[in-house]
Amino acid sequence: MIGENGNTLYLETAHTSYIMRVLSNGMLQHVYYGARIPREDMSYYQLFRERSFSPMIQVEGREASADTIPQEYPVFGRGDFRRPAVVVETADGRMVNELLYQSHEIVSGKPALAGLPSLDVDTRETASLSVTLLDSAGGYEVVLHYSVFEKEDIIARHVEIRNVGKEGIWLREAASLSLDFERKDFTFLSLSGAWARERQVSGRPLGQGTISIESRRGASSHQLNPFAALTDLSATETSGEVYGFALVYSGDFRIGAEVSQFGSTRLQAGLNPETFSWYLEPGESFLTPEGLMTYSDYGLGEMSRHFHNVCRRHLGKCADRRGRHPILINSWEAMYFDVSEEKIQTLLESCQGLGIDTFVLDDGWFGHRRDDTSSLGDWFANEEKFPGGLDRITRLCRQYGMKFGIWIEPEMISRDSHLYAEHPDWCIHGRREPVESRNQLVLDFSRQEVVEEIYERIAALLRNYAVSYVKWDCNRNLTDIGSDSLPKERQREYSYRHMLGVYRLMDRLTKAFSDVCFEGCSGGGGRFDFGMLYYMPQIWTSDDSDAVERQKIQYGTSLVYPPAAMTAHVSACPNHQTGRTTPFGTRGETAQMCGYGYELNVSALSEAERERIRGQVKRHKELEPLLYEGDFYRLKSPFTSEICAWELVARDQTKAYVFVGFQRVIPNCGGEYLRLQGLKAEGRYRIRQLGTTQYGDTLMKAGLPLLMPEEEYGVTVFDLEMEDEE
Ligand code: GLA
Repeated sequence: MIGENGNTLYLETAHTSYIMRVLSNGMLQHVYYGARIPREDMSYYQLFRERSFSPMIQVEGREASADTIPQEYPVFGRGDFRRPAVVVETADGRMVNELLYQSHEIVSGKPALAGLPSLDVDTRETASLSVTLLDSAGGYEVVLHYSVFEKEDIIARHVEIRNVGKEGIWLREAASLSLDFERKDFTFLSLSGAWARERQVSGRPLGQGTISIESRRGASSHQLNPFAALTDLSATETSGEVYGFALVYSGDFRIGAEVSQFGSTRLQAGLNPETFSWYLEPGESFLTPEGLMTYSDYGLGEMSRHFHNVCRRHLGKCADRRGRHPILINSWEAMYFDVSEEKIQTLLESCQGLGIDTFVLDDGWFGHRRDDTSSLGDWFANEEKFPGGLDRITRLCRQYGMKFGIWIEPEMISRDSHLYAEHPDWCIHGRREPVESRNQLVLDFSRQEVVEEIYERIAALLRNYAVSYVKWDCNRNLTDIGSDSLPKERQREYSYRHMLGVYRLMDRLTKAFSDVCFEGCSGGGGRFDFGMLYYMPQIWTSDDSDAVERQKIQYGTSLVYPPAAMTAHVSACPNHQTGRTTPFGTRGETAQMCGYGYELNVSALSEAERERIRGQVKRHKELEPLLYEGDFYRLKSPFTSEICAWELVARDQTKAYVFVGFQRVIPNCGGEYLRLQGLKAEGRYRIRQLGTTQYGDTLMKAGLPLLMPEEEYGVTVFDLEMEDEE
């Protein structure tokens, strides 16, 4: 709900209030964000004061330092020395900005973000507020958009900047959201890591100065995810105040928190200003990506469920996912580049009767690809490996009752390719030789003709082979950024323009092939973000398929993204990334919380192992309703303990699945009780593995007994079912 009362504007979700106020001098003050409070006059609620070395402005009938006023969208150059949300270089070459309130509008639904991924537009459940601010001397207007997703306790924000003057201006910085808090006792929580070690949970306390996470890689990155939370210093999974922020964007970003001299905190999220600038001619306007905010006073778990719910109810393909996940057998770790008809036939034969429904032909099938040195861009079958094309493979799939999926990497080009021979200038390059990574170059997606040509090539592929599933990879980050097609003053627009080009291609392909299940991937989880999930309902979580590492990665990823958006496969041991050997059952149960599949040479397995696959697939199908519609609870963190535990609970609380992974064996150790969450307190739950029935309340307060298994890297699972009430 959105309301107004005099100069005060209120946004309300089921459990939160967000309040702003137009001050007497036209500044837009941020008043409050937190647990829901009644709508009332909030003019008493301010700590404005005069401070030395902080310029004074006239506000609310007195003088106060601009540095002490919390703001909705702060600027630089007029007395507030904290980090600005927007920096405009005006026609006079200066960067002194001032934004004052002009008008506002409340509408039902949500303004569209043309060309960008974002939460639903045509939803009747949503209302939006747009506040227009003007810099009259600078000649530009800023419109702050807020959309309220009431049930999910999410507020979506983005900003539109319009040149209303007579001369050109440059945007040097434009955050999607900015938020001031008059406190600094927060932990800054983020998801950090590296290739094969994505989204490890890390927190550090704020102190005077700035903490920020950034990407300047042209991708949201393995290293730092476009998410951060400000939490109470003592917040846990189930208690404490938590503010969560995430961007619906997949390129360069920055999320930072600055603590001022007076102990206030300014949180900002948006495009990374280091690789950004945008020139606006008179009459032109600019849109930032969307940023999401949520608040929970029940700790991190509740924050995660807000993000999960808004994603699966309102985010593009995640919300209108058709049918369930395919259960895959992927060729990568079974064959790497060395794919052939013969090997595929043997693999398919060995998968007979196991319940696996889709075969995915990973890298190595196209151009004259033998390794990673060639053929990206040549999206036609490798004649040497597949004489006459992929028809025989698709026929084989049909014969074995499976669907056909394929791997592509549309944004890239190899020097050794027909595409490069035809268009050597289509890669990103400057005056220097472009830097290679994995022996490949990046296509200039700011150029429409490049996007068009790649569309045609991929569309032909998907049409010709009745493809039902696509794994869309992106195996390097951007260097040498800039484009031959852009004038000098627009070169710094490249990073954003590239991403907009990628989104154009994704939008077209996913609409034209709406029955195809697209999976995002970037060397595993290098682009795991809400931007990607708008186009593709699932993402290959990490190239690390080792079960023990995966428990951590999936645990960290679940902070923001719903389990059903992750994919996980059972792979061979010793594991190809870590050399570790884990039990087959551990690999299966670790992957069960995600979109499920196999990535190993099934024909080399024993009959007993194949039998286990049959059981695992059957179990996955049983767990699917919990995975898609249930609530996810983290019970024990592998980052702070030797145990990784999570729980899926059905919406109606009648069923639950508990996973407990032991990260290592501790000799001769005691046991412990694992307290469950989200059950119906008065419900009687039958616990299959223990053969007992207990009250939900007991299981949440006293817990389940856990004894460390004697085998290394073991897992324990519990299936709970509520008994009918008499
Ligand atoms: C990336 C992916 C892998 C695999 C390879 C193929 O690294 O994450 O799963 O598809 O590319 O080259």
